[in-house]
Amino acid sequence: MLLLINIAYGYEPVQPIPVKVDYDREKAELGKLLFHDPILAKDNRTSCSYCHDLYKKCGTDHRPVSKGFHDRKGKVNAPTVFNVAFNFRFFWDGRAKTLKEQILGPIQSPVEMNMKIEEVEARLNKHPEYRKLFKKVYGADRITFDLVADAIVEFEKALITPNSKFDRYLRGEVQLTEEELEGYKLFKKLGCISCHNGINLGGNSFQKIGVIKQYPWHPYYPDRYRITKNEFDKNVYRVPVLRNIDCTYPYFHDGSVKTLEEAVQLMALYNLGFRLSKDQLSKIIAFLKTLRGELPKILKEK
Ligand code: HEC
Ligand code: HEC
Repeated sequence: MLLLINIAYGYEPVQPIPVKVDYDREKAELGKLLFHDPILAKDNRTSCSYCHDLYKKCGTDHRPVSKGFHDRKGKVNAPTVFNVAFNFRFFWDGRAKTLKEQILGPIQSPVEMNMKIEEVEARLNKHPEYRKLFKKVYGADRITFDLVADAIVEFEKALITPNSKFDRYLRGEVQLTEEELEGYKLFKKLGCISCHNGINLGGNSFQKIGVIKQYPWHPYYPDRYRITKNEFDKNVYRVPVLRNIDCTYPYFHDGSVKTLEEAVQLMALYNLGFRLSKDQLSKIIAFLKTLRGELPKILKEK
């Protein structure tokens, strides 16, 4: 029986999050400290965790758009950093190819941490505790930004949320309720799956909002057009991740959508060309709620 189920999930367009991933524990622990430390920010307040709250907000800030350095407002919604290592590009416009490259973004952004690389290095090198830690973990006499980024990336790799009800279903360990299962079937049948697939049900391709019905466009949108200047790329984004989606509100690149119900209806309208019935909507929502995983182990360990 188990064997049959395992073979079946081999053909599913969604794969479970691995229960365990490889990362260097010592580096990740150092990265965890840095991620939560406002020493990396000019105003000594805006740590990574200020906008990516790992314990209470599933790696987001629950604001429509982020507030950073001295409460300066950005223009975009903060995506979750949970399961981020499975994404193929980073940021809404996909401009960063690696997680290491990504980190330069918030550190230097005037609306986020507003720091210079040299300033980060200078501050950390004056800090006896960090000097000791970098010496111990990396054998380094001088702390460089490259090592800082390396440690944070190692921590990010550990931010997986395995064992959601849906993953346990894929592994043949539990049943879904009828409503949840119907929701998953609709998700595949209606075509959501064509853009939201893979481990993160997203994060692995660039796709458009407005495939069927045109979605409004503004020059400040963080879409692929910003990078390519190709008309075709207006309103094209790196597809957002649907893991833990009931907990990563508000939605869309500008955080303009408050509820999951509304986000799903807008998707159906703009990308599939119709409105979902109440029954279809509640089934899809029930399915999406099964994507909530466990808190990453590294957050529970001291
Ligand atoms: C002021 C709020 C703020 C701070 C501070 C901040 N971030 Fe972010 N983060 C954001 C926003 C907003 C985005 C989306 C930006 C975009 O797409 O242009 C983002 C995107 C990301 C992404 C990309 C996720 C994905 O799937 O594409 C990662 C990873 C990330 N941040 C990690 C970090 C790390 C590490 C730090 C600290 C060095 C940090 N952030 C500091 C708000 C913040
Ligand atoms: C053609 C590709 C495509 C299809 C089909 C599609 N989506 Fe999306 N989805 C996207 C893109 C791109 C975004 C980002 C939109 C934005 O931020 O402006 C998105 C955003 C979302 C969001 C909000 C995520 C967040 O964190 O902000 C949810 C929820 C969602 N989609 C669910 C669905 C569901 C359910 C369906 C089927 C009814 C569906 N999508 C169909 C591409 C698609």
